[in-house]
Amino acid sequence: MKTIFDINFKNKKALIRVDFNVPLDENFNVSDANRIEAAKPTIDKILNDGGAVILMSHLGRPKGKEDKYSLSHIVYKIEEVLGKKVKFASDCRGEIAKEAAANLQNGEILVLENLRFYAEEEAGDVGFSKELASLGDVYVNDAFGTAHRAHASTTIIANEFPNDKCFGALLAKEIESINKVLKNSEKPVTAILGGSKVSSKITIIENILDKVDHMIIGGGMTFTFIKAMGGNIGDSICEDDKM
Ligand code: 3PG
Repeated sequence: MKTIFDINFKNKKALIRVDFNVPLDENFNVSDANRIEAAKPTIDKILNDGGAVILMSHLGRPKGKEDKYSLSHIVYKIEEVLGKKVKFASDCRGEIAKEAAANLQNGEILVLENLRFYAEEEAGDVGFSKELASLGDVYVNDAFGTAHRAHASTTIIANEFPNDKCFGALLAKEIESINKVLKNSEKPVTAILGGSKVSSKITIIENILDKVDHMIIGGGMTFTFIKAMGGNIGDSICEDDKM
């Protein structure tokens, strides 16, 4: 597993896929900055090496370009967490993105507009992944919350960097932790899983069921299980098609 700690980023532009799919309140303020804070060690390491950082992420599930899902809303929070000025490119592809990336200097941070403003992201479009890849020298995947998606900026883009790719500190830590628990753990093991969508957790649940002694399901996805078992969930969140 190659990580950012195996690479010296001096004079390199690191294209980092982060998961900044953070919750926003009605005034577009970030109500939970955990995911931004989790990316800080990776960003700091690259800047400290003397490199530049290009951050790309999705936010929500927009249908085309919807302003309420613009990553411009969260730039202030990224600056607050990193304690640095951050540049913003109002498009993640085309001339705007190319120019912003080309002008980026060592020590600087650029945030690209929401990748999901283009259907090609979720479609895993190779052409789109090549466009994104052209913006940086090294590809870093630190989007733990999105690592299960085969999207243009996650799985597909990695093919464009046969040698110059690695995991960020967050992803490396998560993989290390899960290996520790699933491969070398002392019994009994209890897994606690949360999150609102059972649809994006079911594969994980199925994969670890026979490796753990107990599993506790929490978060919003609990209600899909309760309803499936005949319980009453009122207006609680539920994925009826996953029952
Ligand atoms: C999440 O919040 O679960 C991740 O950011 C992935 O988002 P998605 O379920 O819309 O792909």
